[in-house]
Amino acid sequence: MKKLQGKWAFVTGSSRGIGQQIAMGLASHGCNVIVHGRKEGNTNKTISLLKDYDIKIDAVYGELTNIEDIKRMIKEIKSKYHIDILYNNAGIQNKWKDIWDLTIDEWKDVFQINLFSMVQLNNAFIPDMKKKGYGRVINLSSGIKDIPQMAPYSASKAAVDKYTKDLAFELKDTNILVNALDPGWLRTDLGGEYAPNKVESVLPGALVPALLDDNGERGHIFSAQDYRN
Ligand SMILES: NC(=O)c1ccc[n+]([C@@H]2O[C@H](COP(=O)([O-])OP(=O)(O)OC[C@H]3O[C@@H](n4cnc5c(N)ncnc54)[C@H](OP(=O)(O)O)[C@@H]3O)[C@@H](O)[C@H]2O)c1
Repeated sequence: MKKLQGKWAFVTGSSRGIGQQIAMGLASHGCNVIVHGRKEGNTNKTISLLKDYDIKIDAVYGELTNIEDIKRMIKEIKSKYHIDILYNNAGIQNKWKDIWDLTIDEWKDVFQINLFSMVQLNNAFIPDMKKKGYGRVINLSSGIKDIPQMAPYSASKAAVDKYTKDLAFELKDTNILVNALDPGWLRTDLGGEYAPNKVESVLPGALVPALLDDNGERGHIFSAQDYRN
């Protein structure tokens, strides 16, 4: 039996890029997957790729900028499934601008998607994981540094790291292991064409925090590139 057989994972932002790789990686371990993108149709490619695996697949659609949309997706998922693995992958970057020209609205947009939507999803799903005595939560971080034009993005990821550690500590007496993942700089729509690593290189490292045994690491920032084949 495969390690994640029968479990359900929700992977935000799995219509393309890193999330699509994560969804396929989880599927290769027998995990059922709920994929997510902003609109129906965006996830077609991921769903067709997942059909190569012997798993159940579902999809939800919604804007992570919109609290009501997030509530609707949570309700829809909870009405059908128990989530064992929550992979908070979706994220955006701010526009490249001089640090002084980045507006507060631009800062807020980045924080809403990269941090606040993650908090909303964790608050919704982790209590159910506690009741069941099992959970793996992975929050997408970044190794970005010394790029002031990307300060909102970098600061949002630094906040993700701190939040991940606080959440992991809160859950220290449970079997809910909360960790972060730094995927490395990868060629995706977000990472751009000059990134040194192909998107596939996020595997198998991205799966390490999802495959942890009970009493595995918590509050750790895993670097996917450390596990490259
Ligand atoms: N690529 C890198 O080099 C790199 C490096 C460090 C960290 N990361 C992090 O890794 C994660 C994935 O990045 P990626 O490179 O795979 O990005 P990507 O290729 O741009 O994909 C972004 C994903 O997030 C979804 N998304 C974007 N805006 C959204 C919104 N407003 N509401 C809901 N969903 C939204 C997209 O859905 P749609 O397809 O429906 O738009 C898509 O599935 C992010 O958290 C990013 O910060 C990436």
